[in-house]
Amino acid sequence: MNHAEIEAIVEVHRKAFGETEGEETAQLAKNFLDHPDTISISVKRDGQVAGNVLFTPFVFKEHPDAICYLLAPCGVLPEFQGHGVGKELMETSIEHLKSIGADAVFVLGVPTFYPRYGFLPTDKQTPYPDLLTAPEAWMELALTAGKAKKLSGKTKAIQQFMRAHWWDTSGRG
Ligand SMILES: CC(C)(COP(=O)(O)OP(=O)(O)OC[C@H]1O[C@@H](n2cnc3c(N)ncnc32)[C@H](O)[C@@H]1OP(=O)(O)O)[C@@H](O)C(=O)NCCC(=O)NCCS
Repeated sequence: MNHAEIEAIVEVHRKAFGETEGEETAQLAKNFLDHPDTISISVKRDGQVAGNVLFTPFVFKEHPDAICYLLAPCGVLPEFQGHGVGKELMETSIEHLKSIGADAVFVLGVPTFYPRYGFLPTDKQTPYPDLLTAPEAWMELALTAGKAKKLSGKTKAIQQFMRAHWWDTSGRG
């Protein structure tokens, strides 16, 4: 991915998440894009990146062979929100994750948006289970039913996503 593409994606997240969360989410996206195993899916409108979603590896320590991802961040430029870009991002990326044989995808996010695409609240652990004060925000989409069901125990995100701050839901509205 070239520099201009990276900048366009980072800018989408900066603007999508607004004044309070935009800058730190943009920085997170930039850090994720530096990771070789990050999957990036973008949707374009009028020749520009209108929305982007990133997926980073998520590991169950007792099940190292399972292929799991964390979905974050997912953002659409404010001027394109409400016109199907988010839907296209979700549908395209779920198809892609299925095609590469992923077992499950996890997200800590808006509990009214992700269930539209099959995500359900899950009792599997975040890397910081004690900080999950809003369990309805922690969701899973199982892609390989049998294997995903067996996953349990401690989990780990990539190093750039292991800051406790990202997993603490106590400040979320
Ligand atoms: C959430 C977001 C990614 C959705 O993208 P979008 O392009 O506006 O969504 P779409 O127009 O494709 O809408 C798809 C569906 O989701 C619904 N939807 C959109 N935003 C929603 C939200 N915040 N909460 C719940 N439902 C939402 C739409 O009503 C639509 O439903 P329908 O298919 O029944 O009509 C986008 O609004 C955004 O970037 N918001 C700010 C950042 C953010 O909150 N990201 C998610 C954090 S976990």
